[in-house]
Amino acid sequence: MSDDKDIVRIIRILQEKIEKEEESTFSKKVINEYRNPTNFGLIKNPDATGKINGSCGDTMKIDLKIKDDKISDIRFWTDGCGASIACGNMLTKMVIGKTMQDAYNITSKELLLELDGLPVEHQHCTILAINTLKKSLNNYKKREQSGK
Ligand code: FES
Repeated sequence: MSDDKDIVRIIRILQEKIEKEEESTFSKKVINEYRNPTNFGLIKNPDATGKINGSCGDTMKIDLKIKDDKISDIRFWTDGCGASIACGNMLTKMVIGKTMQDAYNITSKELLLELDGLPVEHQHCTILAINTLKKSLNNYKKREQSGK
């Protein structure tokens, strides 16, 4: 019984240590997006989807629903780092309701600013999110042009 209590205590100490490290490395916004991603997941029967493998080897996928040329629903999935979850979630929040062109024009710098920055070694995660969104939008355009 006391072994169980010790294990629980050790887990709690480790968890607190990890959380303190995260808080000293990432902005409050990044931590909030990463810990509470509201748009993580997939859309059943999306109008378009885009999937990219980033330079780090991690993958992101973005599903879209488009109505009247605007993004009416959007979800992202990633097997990447916490920063990639923050990037995917913040980006989906930034583009929902926007026209396809306005969404396409968002840059990784704007995403970085919206997150109050990221450590240099995680800035490429913004590019993964932006490129995945662009791929999904391009796939939608291709589908429209082919009439399928
Ligand atoms: Fe690969 Fe962040 S997406 S390290």
